[in-house]
Amino acid sequence: MLQPARGTRDILDNEMTLKEFFLKTFQRFAKNYGFRGIETPIFESTDVFKRTLGETSDVVSKEMYTFEDRGGSSMTLRPEGTAGIVRALISNGLTQTLPQKFFYSGPMFRYERPQKGRYRQLHQACVEYIGSDHPFADVEVISFAYNLLKVLNIQDVMLNINTLGDLESRAAYREALIQYFGPYKNDLSDDSKVRLEKNPLRILDSKDIHDQVICENAPAFIHYLNNTSQAFYNQVLEGLEALNIPYKCNPKVVRGLDYYTHTAFEFKTDKLGAQDAVLGGGRYDNLVKQMGGPHTPAVGFGMGIERICLLMDKKNIISQFPIGILPIGEEDYKNGLMLANQLRMNDIGCELPLKGNLNKRFKLLERLQCHVAILFGSEEWSKNCVKFKYLQQNNKKEDVVSVENIIDYIKKNQLF
Ligand code: HAM
Repeated sequence: MLQPARGTRDILDNEMTLKEFFLKTFQRFAKNYGFRGIETPIFESTDVFKRTLGETSDVVSKEMYTFEDRGGSSMTLRPEGTAGIVRALISNGLTQTLPQKFFYSGPMFRYERPQKGRYRQLHQACVEYIGSDHPFADVEVISFAYNLLKVLNIQDVMLNINTLGDLESRAAYREALIQYFGPYKNDLSDDSKVRLEKNPLRILDSKDIHDQVICENAPAFIHYLNNTSQAFYNQVLEGLEALNIPYKCNPKVVRGLDYYTHTAFEFKTDKLGAQDAVLGGGRYDNLVKQMGGPHTPAVGFGMGIERICLLMDKKNIISQFPIGILPIGEEDYKNGLMLANQLRMNDIGCELPLKGNLNKRFKLLERLQCHVAILFGSEEWSKNCVKFKYLQQNNKKEDVVSVENIIDYIKKNQLF
């Protein structure tokens, strides 16, 4: 039997309902914060990702889906969204009109070892606030994430925040790490030996257990921050405090991609095992310039939609199903068709099962968790009335309603 490719999934039924609910809430929120929608291609020239995300990052060195197209150009399925957004910013000349605040969502592709909450085709919802170097831009972006999680009723997540400083602080820290890891060179994993040469900060992000033991006593970045970077970080933390957003300063949040400067953050949960990051982001002040645009500071985050769906409370959302229409006999179907049409034209969702006897169709409405069935045969219809039969566990009442009052009745009783 044909199966989906490893690490990919079909999104069905209840999960699709959750995803749609999440995306609707995310989009509403994004608009309230002044972000505007954008869509960029799912594949880009490999160059868009290769240097920008960092050649020593796991994403670039092991996880990209890269292929040669028929014209011989190297293309890559986007492993993340930020590099493509910055490419679009530059390609469309938008660096002339800053700030630009974008929101977007869609699939990303990473060749990772699949497990619960970790897939090869994953979906992210993201925002990018481009063109402000104010620490409160970081606070706005973090508060967006915090409030969204709250509204979605996702509990037990904690903001973990860190600073990766500016280029000067980074250079000082790099030297300190080279000094520290130098004597352990032969004990490090092969990947980390390369990282020591190219980007020692990446060693701190190593998944290798022996590397992690060596990292335990590595110098902390905080001691190498210059005054500008320290002041920036303090202002971000002050902004979070002003909004009563709880946080934990966590020097281990170094992020898996190379473009970050200053603020780096993740919202973590202990409900998803090893895949504990529900969302991650930070500031990337040098990326636009690195990709050929003018110096343009920016900050953003991406949240993993699969992980959010695993954490959402399914009960409340899935019970938002439509009204069911149950014409009793085949001869009543045409009236059912017309009634369904009328409800939908009034923006009232409903289901009209057409297959099987009354009992079977009734069962289908129960499976769809409809709140109420509108039941009628020729006799009732000729007397101009239908029966509203409630299908909930705690409510089995029945009401007779005249045909012309159906819509008013539905609205009055908030049945949709
Ligand atoms: P990231 O931390 O690589 O950041 O990914 C963001 C989120 O995507 C993660 O926190 C996680 O929830 C989800 N995610 C990542 N990989 C997987 C996977 N294999 N399976 C399921 N979910 C996954 C970025 O991608 C940055 N572009 C975020 C950003 C935007 N930074 C600034 N702007």
